[in-house]
Amino acid sequence: METLMLTKKEIDQAAALIRQGELVSFPTETVYGLGADATNEAAVKKVYAAKGRPSDNPLIVTVSSEEMVQKYVDHISSDAQKLIDRFWPGSLTMIFKLKPHALSKAVTGGLETAAFRFPNNQLTLDLITKAGVPIVGPSANTSGKPSPTTAKHVYHDLNGKIAAILDDGPTTVGVESTVLDMSVETPSILRPGAVTKDDIENVIHRKVIDELHHVGTNQTPKAPGMKYKHYAPNAQVYIVDPDDSWLEVAKWIEEHPQPVGVMAFDQVISSIDWPMNAQLITLGSNSRTASHDLFADLREFDNHPEIKIIFTQGLKPSGIAEAYMNRLNKSAGQMHFKQL
Ligand code: TXA
Ligand code: MG
Repeated sequence: METLMLTKKEIDQAAALIRQGELVSFPTETVYGLGADATNEAAVKKVYAAKGRPSDNPLIVTVSSEEMVQKYVDHISSDAQKLIDRFWPGSLTMIFKLKPHALSKAVTGGLETAAFRFPNNQLTLDLITKAGVPIVGPSANTSGKPSPTTAKHVYHDLNGKIAAILDDGPTTVGVESTVLDMSVETPSILRPGAVTKDDIENVIHRKVIDELHHVGTNQTPKAPGMKYKHYAPNAQVYIVDPDDSWLEVAKWIEEHPQPVGVMAFDQVISSIDWPMNAQLITLGSNSRTASHDLFADLREFDNHPEIKIIFTQGLKPSGIAEAYMNRLNKSAGQMHFKQL
């Protein structure tokens, strides 16, 4: 069945679909999510099927009030409360220990914890409040593909597999939320996002662990989702590191007469005399615009199957550029221009 495109005015219909156990994609400030009633196990199971997502990968629980969290969570520490006060609504997802049997195994993947998110999007907060239940909210892409930052991206991946998409225009941040584990002794970041380690430490005044820099390759990542190949477009992506020469990239493209994609800052695009076979897409002018555009640009190149190689701007990983580089590294499978 064709998926319905709904707008603000049709929010009651979207809420009714959630209550009926149907899947509805919802906007957030980061990426579009795939919503289902988190208290309805059959509905949650449909999310895995629609995305083609491995069932051991737990889902984020998206809420519209702190009371919704308290209903399921054992205890909210004073540090967690400070982070809630500072960053909610916003791009910080926090993992808490659950009350026994508070949520089904379909949500938690069998863990005793769950990740809670309070997104900065009024339409979705209204949707959850109207539905009267928290909604699970993985990114609304086919598993392995770049996360969707427009309703059109969701439609492309999931048309016919979900009941509706609530369209609120393009997202503003463009990369998924920071995932912070608050269920352990020392809070630890399992996935970098717009809220950085410094931002968090400045609020709780104690050390936070950055799991990405702790996990060896032979260890199991703490966020099950981090172990899968992710964000991959059809072409092979190569990272052009900050100390690489874009002139050399242009030369390489000139010497290889096939269509090649380039994703770089405006300044790079405009300062080089590119060969005809280079297909140029801008990432704007800074790490914020690059994060905002990354997934959309990767998806744009998927519309051009003749492109087998994409060169993408690498950044020094600080601030939101850490999240950007985390996603870009996955898209590229760690391949760099230097290796060519
Ligand atoms: O910005 C976002 O967070 C978006 C929007 C739609 O809200 N959602 C999102 O969800 O990115 P998803 O499911 O694609 O990513 C959630 C990540 C996964 O890596 C998952 O393994 C991890 O969080 N996760 C969820 N619950 C967890 C738990 N209890 N313990 C450890 N990791 C968990
Ligand atoms: Mg995802």
